[in-house]
Amino acid sequence: MEDFRQRIEELRRQIDEHNRRYYVDNSPSISDYDFDMLMNELIALEKAHPSLVSEDSPTRRVGSDLGDDNGVSREFRHLPHKYPMLSLGNTYNIPEVEDFVARASRGSTSPLSFCCELKFDGTAICLTYSSGRLVGALTRGDGIVGDDVLRNVHHIAGIPSILHGDDIPDEFEIRGEIYMPYKSFDALCAEREEDGEAPFANPRNAASGSLKLTDSSEVGRRGLECTLYHMLGENLPFATHDEALLKAASWGLPVSAHRRICRDINEIEEFINYWDTERKLLPFATDGVVVKVNELPVQKELGFTSKFPRWAVAYKFKAEQACTEVLGIDYQVGRTGAVTPVANLSPVPLSGTVVKRATLHNAEQMEALDIRVGDWVYVEKGGEIIPKITAVELSRRPLLSEKPVFPDSCPDCGTPLVREADQAKWFCPNVWSCPTQVKETLVHFLSRRAMNVLAGDATIAQLYDRGLVRYSADFYDLKYSDLYRLEGWKEKSCERFLKSLENSRKVTFDHVLYALAIRNVGETTAKMLARHYGNIDALSSASLEELQEVGDIGEVIAASIRSFFDEPRNVENIERLRRAGLQFSMAGEGAVDAILEGRTVVITGTYAISRDAMKALVEKHSGRISSGVSAKTSFVLAGQNPGPEKLKKAAELGIRTVTEREFYDIVGEEMPDAEGKELTLF
Ligand code: IVH
Repeated sequence: MEDFRQRIEELRRQIDEHNRRYYVDNSPSISDYDFDMLMNELIALEKAHPSLVSEDSPTRRVGSDLGDDNGVSREFRHLPHKYPMLSLGNTYNIPEVEDFVARASRGSTSPLSFCCELKFDGTAICLTYSSGRLVGALTRGDGIVGDDVLRNVHHIAGIPSILHGDDIPDEFEIRGEIYMPYKSFDALCAEREEDGEAPFANPRNAASGSLKLTDSSEVGRRGLECTLYHMLGENLPFATHDEALLKAASWGLPVSAHRRICRDINEIEEFINYWDTERKLLPFATDGVVVKVNELPVQKELGFTSKFPRWAVAYKFKAEQACTEVLGIDYQVGRTGAVTPVANLSPVPLSGTVVKRATLHNAEQMEALDIRVGDWVYVEKGGEIIPKITAVELSRRPLLSEKPVFPDSCPDCGTPLVREADQAKWFCPNVWSCPTQVKETLVHFLSRRAMNVLAGDATIAQLYDRGLVRYSADFYDLKYSDLYRLEGWKEKSCERFLKSLENSRKVTFDHVLYALAIRNVGETTAKMLARHYGNIDALSSASLEELQEVGDIGEVIAASIRSFFDEPRNVENIERLRRAGLQFSMAGEGAVDAILEGRTVVITGTYAISRDAMKALVEKHSGRISSGVSAKTSFVLAGQNPGPEKLKKAAELGIRTVTEREFYDIVGEEMPDAEGKELTLF
């Protein structure tokens, strides 16, 4: 039993982490298929051991895109959904679809019809129209509460603000998907690469990241599109789902025409097979087909489980594969000095783009695949931007091929590579003089999310190669005369660059901190540290132990931060940047207001306000909600009838339990009356 408990806990932890990466960070690290396999294992284990079921298991919840810890979507109000926004059950083969058809038809006296549609691979959106006007737009969020993205949705071409036509209901919701066509995705990735920013993993992540931008006009430039597939409302006058969609289209709403009414499993299978091939020609990403009971009264009767409708199911296409030849293997040094083997491939089309390179991750992965130059390999696109090589076609291996040898010195500066005991990657330790590492660090410093200085990679490389910059502080010593004498620089470009550097002096401390390129400190961590410490002096003098008390900072990140500030060259560079006028403290509120910044709160029981309102209150004060008590929990907020398991675990771990009243004292707000139960979210 203990083994099962451990496995269940491990699966829940992994699934929660993957959900966060997918919905919040927009940066999944496993394929949808692998995710579903983890989920299926958890469902099976919970079914076999009902005593281990817990109400906060991910099997009972839909994944959440609410940005409680990415610092981006906090910009958006959280609003409750009128009807919960659920997900769909997945199937991967025709017999499973057949089971669905049988289950759905069971109680019905007359034969059913099924509406088959494409499954668009984007991010879900819920639009509300009132008197023919667009009045609301919420993301899925956690299914109960979503991010209010109306101001951004107004900038998406194809979503009408006003409807025209007959019989428009007074008030209704219509749900669908916001997606990014391949063409816009490719343009965006090229632009980001130019700016030294990481490209999005796939069009789906690009769509959801773009929808949550704070600059609405930039949302309009991203080329997002929308397709709508589910209408909801009180007493809508339609007999079938298809009829509702036809009507929606007649009012000017974007509804996909790629659908078909099927009478039986054979017709459904035909539709699936047709689109499994044909989708490769579509200008946007699809990851399956959705089969829905068409008759609305039957839909109503079938209802929902806690996660899915019983009247619809998704059939997921297999990840697309291609077979191509390995032309060579490069070893690339990155900003952190990590050396990554990359296979150069004979170009091959795959899921809407042409694949020319694939990462081999590290030496062990190369060994595991037994890959050689000249081999034919299978490439697949999973969650990651760079396709992965899944296998070598040994039957096509050239006779005289040889095992590649992983270099023992840096391909750029020749320094012998090192590998730490628990790491899979080899590193070039020459952080201060390996040209690639130094240039990449400078590129990162000026990039858009860091100091936001207008300069391409080639310009930065030129300044480095000419000996003008080596440390980031050197940028602020550059003079007009230094630039004007360089090849390709004209009056205008010199002025523009210097002006942009000048403007960067106003960039806020959290971005400056991110720009410093402390190992393992990304944007989110930088923001958290900036808010927590308020200024660089407090941060740079924090001990390893103190650092680990901030948010979810663990040993590894704390050690990176400490060793960064223990290096005299970094301290000297920061002093020069400070003298150049950069911001090394949070202006105004930042540090003071966020009372729960870096705190992880577990809530249990009932409160004077609803649980969702309580979660929103914790988040409003910059706290983070977590579902289970662990060593990372800052305190347990116990309402009426708290869960005994949670209290026990907290007591075992010595974690403080806070009453509802104490909590209101901490956040400095008035406790509402239980009777009123008013849902004041903000
Ligand atoms: S119907 C009650 N139809 O796929 C759920 N969903 O993996 C009704 N999706 O949550 C959803 N294309 O975000 C429906 N034609 C389509 C879809 C579709 C994409 C998304 C949607 C859903 C997710 C489930």
